[in-house]
Amino acid sequence: MSQTAAKPLASDFLSRFERQLHLAFEDPRHAGKQPEVLLEACRHVSFAGGKRMRPLLVDHFGAALDLPEDARIRLAITAELIHTASLLHDDVVDEGTTRRGKPTANARWNNSVAVLGGDLMLCIALEQLEDYPREVTFEAVTLVAEMTRAAMREVDARQDSTWTLPEWEAIAHGKTGALLAFCGTASARVAGRTELIERLGQCGHHLGLAFQITDDLIDVVGHPIDIGKDRLADLRNKNPSFPIALARSSNEDFRRALDELWQRDDLSEDDVQRFGAWIVELGCADKTLATVEDHLDRAMDALGPFAHGPGGEHIAEWAAQLRAQARWSLESQ
Ligand code: IPE
Ligand code: IPE
Ligand code: MG
Ligand code: MG
Repeated sequence: MSQTAAKPLASDFLSRFERQLHLAFEDPRHAGKQPEVLLEACRHVSFAGGKRMRPLLVDHFGAALDLPEDARIRLAITAELIHTASLLHDDVVDEGTTRRGKPTANARWNNSVAVLGGDLMLCIALEQLEDYPREVTFEAVTLVAEMTRAAMREVDARQDSTWTLPEWEAIAHGKTGALLAFCGTASARVAGRTELIERLGQCGHHLGLAFQITDDLIDVVGHPIDIGKDRLADLRNKNPSFPIALARSSNEDFRRALDELWQRDDLSEDDVQRFGAWIVELGCADKTLATVEDHLDRAMDALGPFAHGPGGEHIAEWAAQLRAQARWSLESQ
């Protein structure tokens, strides 16, 4: 038997996932109902070229648990749509204009369409779970509540710069870690492997934090290749990020100077660059990389022997790539 026949490629899963995602929007519970613009906005952002990290993670956890493919696809759609709905809402909150290389729904239509399209998308996400134990739906609802609270805490942190590392961590878990944790816990629940819920949830949580901290690191140090994002956006936008939190907690002069800077409305580009360089001088970029690596190590510890089996080996590979990305970003210094 060829290797491809023995072990389906992730892209086979993804093409079936894409087909089912199209079908989810054609469900008679929604299709053809007025106003059509909400589904149009859902499709606009759903098929715009996201990386599909969460569906792939569900597929990998599912493979590790020997979960049938239809269940993997259902859970993958739930995870991806909860994520995409959070992007629709995030772009309203952040007044974002481009998402996945296309105009955001708020820019293409307006805030009402983006917010209400996001609400409809959350409903479609939860509908996917109707054949599974009600605990899975409850968990998804709890997740959405957690993501919602984290988004608000992030907005609050931009107004009040006294936030600390634990606050940053709570926001990062709610923004990113909780959904990646759900990919593991929901897969374990649907597979009936309740003894693995905690362990796979921990794995997802640490992968999520490593991903978020890498994003924060790249914001400070840049990336050797153009990734289509402005550098130092977190400093410019008074946004809580891990390296900024680290610099604030490790150096009192930095903390005071940053508080003063962020009270001004007229941040100059020179100021932003100076504070970015200061974070690096304080050793906080190196420490941030060490923290990414620590989270990746913990994710792999939680995965345990699954890391060498089906599905788990792809999670280990993904973690290794993220580690390489984070290390590589520091080389652009
Ligand atoms: C973006 O997530 C939001 C963050 C958690 C930083 P992704 O980078 O996974 O976005 P898509 O799905 O590929 O668009
Ligand atoms: C994205 O957050 C939304 C969520 C993770 C819920 P950000 O505002 O930090 O990321 P981008 O830059 O818009 O993707
Ligand atoms: Mg945001
Ligand atoms: Mg945003």
